[in-house]
Amino acid sequence: MGKRITDTSGQRCVAQSARHQGVTEAETRPNVARMYDYYLGGCHNFAADRAAAEEVLKIFPDTGVAAQTNRAFLRRAVRWAAEQGIRQFLDVGAGLPTQGNVHEVVRAVAPDARVVYVDHDEVAVAYARRLLPTDGRTVVLRGDLRRPDEMLADPLLRATVDLTEPVALLLVAVLHFVPDADDPWAAVARLRDATARGSMLAVSHLTLDGAPPLPAQAGTAVYRRSSAPLVPRTHAEVARFLDGYDVVEPGLVRLADWRPDGEPRAAVSHGYGGVGVRR
Ligand SMILES: C[S@@+](CC[C@H](N)C(=O)[O-])C[C@H]1O[C@@H](n2cnc3c(N)ncnc32)[C@H](O)[C@@H]1O
Repeated sequence: MGKRITDTSGQRCVAQSARHQGVTEAETRPNVARMYDYYLGGCHNFAADRAAAEEVLKIFPDTGVAAQTNRAFLRRAVRWAAEQGIRQFLDVGAGLPTQGNVHEVVRAVAPDARVVYVDHDEVAVAYARRLLPTDGRTVVLRGDLRRPDEMLADPLLRATVDLTEPVALLLVAVLHFVPDADDPWAAVARLRDATARGSMLAVSHLTLDGAPPLPAQAGTAVYRRSSAPLVPRTHAEVARFLDGYDVVEPGLVRLADWRPDGEPRAAVSHGYGGVGVRR
């Protein structure tokens, strides 16, 4: 890739050096955060990420559109939560900064809102810390969804979010990187139980419901060589993440069908999205 200064969304490129945060481009294995960045037209990615992403694009040429559709769902869900009065956002599996980051969407509705970005990937966290504002209301933590108690105990999280007040928990395109063996449902339930009534959960999740089996297997095989396996789930399996929440209209639906706002819609969507309010 040529030496771009900014990516297609105008973000400053920080992955231009072959060496960053101890990552050597030649050595690195494909990383799911940076592959996603590549699908979105970002420049925070290395050769191994781009090669793996290109393999996926050969199998599913609409993956870039699917990634944009997921980001559009995230923006709509966040805006909706802010419009309902939520002023605290906990974005777990936040990924690399890109266009329409959560704090930007939220601040357009509620300039005083607080946003905690969490990711378990150290490079994603390092880039986010470099690129995001250091205003005290936007913080970036390294944390693992599979260890919710550790995440919740983080002093920076505690200093930023008041768990006795409603929080919007964003689990967008992250749960499909947590295998069943790690019991992601238990982790989500733990986070739900730690938040106040009236808190919200926004979930998006890859599905292969309706997709042809052979390409699906080839696509997930690419991810088996990456930093995290990809675990597509059925509608019923994704719906279980929303247990304990009243799911708002239109329910758990294909991402493009969740409260569309006139943005361009993908013809296909390989993801489910939904938002619930904690009882
Ligand atoms: C596809 S990106 C999604 C980024 C953003 N949420 C979005 O939807 O645009 C998935 C992110 O989840 C992170 N991730 C995967 N497993 C995780 C875990 N167990 N805990 C925290 N983050 C995780 C990856 O590092 C990556 O940045």
